[in-house]
Amino acid sequence: MKRDFLEITDFTKDEILETFELAKQLKEKTKNRIEHHILKGRTLAMLFQKPSTRTRVSFEVGMYQLGGHALYLNPTEVGLGKRESVADVARVLSRFCDGIMARVFGHEIVAELAQYASVPVINGLSALTHPCQIMGDMFTIIEHKGDYKDLTITYLGDGNNVANSWVNLAAKLSFSLRLGVPQGYEPDQAILERTMAANVSKIEIIHDPVEAVRGADVVYTDVWASMGKEEEAEERKRIFPPYQVNETLLSKAAQDVIFLHCLPAHRGDEVTDGVMDGPHSVVFDEAENRLHIQKALMVKLMSNG
Ligand code: CP
Ligand code: NVA
Repeated sequence: MKRDFLEITDFTKDEILETFELAKQLKEKTKNRIEHHILKGRTLAMLFQKPSTRTRVSFEVGMYQLGGHALYLNPTEVGLGKRESVADVARVLSRFCDGIMARVFGHEIVAELAQYASVPVINGLSALTHPCQIMGDMFTIIEHKGDYKDLTITYLGDGNNVANSWVNLAAKLSFSLRLGVPQGYEPDQAILERTMAANVSKIEIIHDPVEAVRGADVVYTDVWASMGKEEEAEERKRIFPPYQVNETLLSKAAQDVIFLHCLPAHRGDEVTDGVMDGPHSVVFDEAENRLHIQKALMVKLMSNG
């Protein structure tokens, strides 16, 4: 049976931890230039409805390093759901390729691809979630902090796809997750309820940004207006400034706090240059780790059959 990765919750806790371990091994091999052609001869189709730097490059380079091939399909040539139905695109790509990675607007599109594809489908970001990102983020946090248990992780800003995937991860791994978001910009209610019901992590929504950051081991932020929300950007610029991660706000966190941002960053909005380029920032380690974690994910999903 093929497995998809649409949500972090598609994996068990053990599978998540195994993926971190495999990513560590693959990173080691990559750094030491040890060949690891585990997916030799396999092909990944990469469908994009939205722009990307990290996701596109890390999947393409990752597939190459694993001995396979990735092909980039831009939004205009495929015309998902316009030139051809999503289901038919899924069926056709399954005849050529061993896996599909898709970055889409509505989450239902990636879910439909998974329903009709006979090969694994990986969510490379939807309006609802960004699971590959948060897998790479937690892998980065473990590298820097040694473990995830007992950490207080504060997400500041918009309760968007990245925040939703953090909430999903908190249903599987146990840590303390604080969501410092403005009223009305909370993460998805259904995802929050599911995670609360799982009762694995402590989850708090704290509207006061200083209280949300106080003593935190990890501070994380993302853009205030995600792709697809551009028309709200001006209004959000009036609401979100108290949540900007600047040196004053970061000084309320633990002394050895690390700062993460999924990138791209809007410097001067959700984060200052001082924080991005400062001693607590691990944002470029985080970006690099997308490569290693996604290679591990592809090996887990695509090496059988
Ligand atoms: N963080 C991330 O997914 O970056 P891209 O949008 O550049 O792929
Ligand atoms: N929340 C952002 C993440 C970009 C990687 C967006 O969806 O645009």
